[in-house]
Amino acid sequence: MIQNILTGIKCTGTPHIGNYLGAIKPAIERADKDANSFYFMANYHALNQITDAKELQQSVKEIACTWLACGLDPKKTVFYRQSDIPEIFELATILSNFTAKGLLDRAHAYKAAVQDGRDVNMGLYNYPVLMAADIILFDTNFVPVGADQKQHIEIAADIVKAFNAIYGKVLVVPEPLIKKEVATIPGLDGRKMSKSYGNTISLFANEDELLKCIKRITTDSSAPTDPKPTDHLIFQLYRHFANCELENRIGWGEAKQKLFEVMNAALKPMRERYEQLMKTAELENIFEDGTKRAREVARTTLDRVRKAIGVI
Ligand code: TRP
Repeated sequence: MIQNILTGIKCTGTPHIGNYLGAIKPAIERADKDANSFYFMANYHALNQITDAKELQQSVKEIACTWLACGLDPKKTVFYRQSDIPEIFELATILSNFTAKGLLDRAHAYKAAVQDGRDVNMGLYNYPVLMAADIILFDTNFVPVGADQKQHIEIAADIVKAFNAIYGKVLVVPEPLIKKEVATIPGLDGRKMSKSYGNTISLFANEDELLKCIKRITTDSSAPTDPKPTDHLIFQLYRHFANCELENRIGWGEAKQKLFEVMNAALKPMRERYEQLMKTAELENIFEDGTKRAREVARTTLDRVRKAIGVI
């Protein structure tokens, strides 16, 4: 049976290498196989972080152009903007009735906000329900994501099970698709790569910035002839971009130079396409087509759900 795979990226900031290796690259590879793929800009998920209209719009554009520059083919994939699909929001309202409050109380992002004493709004609290609606609406079997999103997929699966326990097998239980080697890609300082730690390598940094970033990667003071730990970020990244191993009796300086060369070779053509797309992309046409195709599927699922709960 043909499987449905779906993923979204929250439209905040500029994508980094962790996003590329963890989500974008595996998702594009999957889309080339025999699966129906649905990839979208999660712009409503950004709203509890970005409250500047221009910034939000710019972020959607940057992220969409990133996916296209990385090789996404909008003819093979249903590629859309979350905000263009009203069915998502109707489904989110329905699903919230099958979401135990305790489930959301345990969500990592919410718990972290409470712990830090930040103000919590309902957008943040309901974030997992909206994400569940994104996923469930397209009868999603697999969700390629970074390891940090695993809990969100589990929450979506729990919501499906609660719904199906009442109405029968109406909804599909989604599963996360987490690439093992990238699940632990650390940032420049060894902590998890995250925008909030300021330790990321931006995907389309120009050559100078890329080299500077690589030079910032924390290393130890071992001598060039000492064997190096091959799970170190430099070795991990090298493996991803060169598809082979970096010899491990090597000085850190030389290792960084070699890493720069393979990364730059792989990223350069994408960087150039990205810059071109940002200037010329007919994004609106692409989104118009994506919306049409996404809503056809969305309508069918939502009608099935409405029928099950008794609103049609
Ligand atoms: N929460 C995801 C992130 O922070 C973005 C997202 C929103 C998503 N809806 C989704 C990912 C549905 C996968 C499936 O990157």
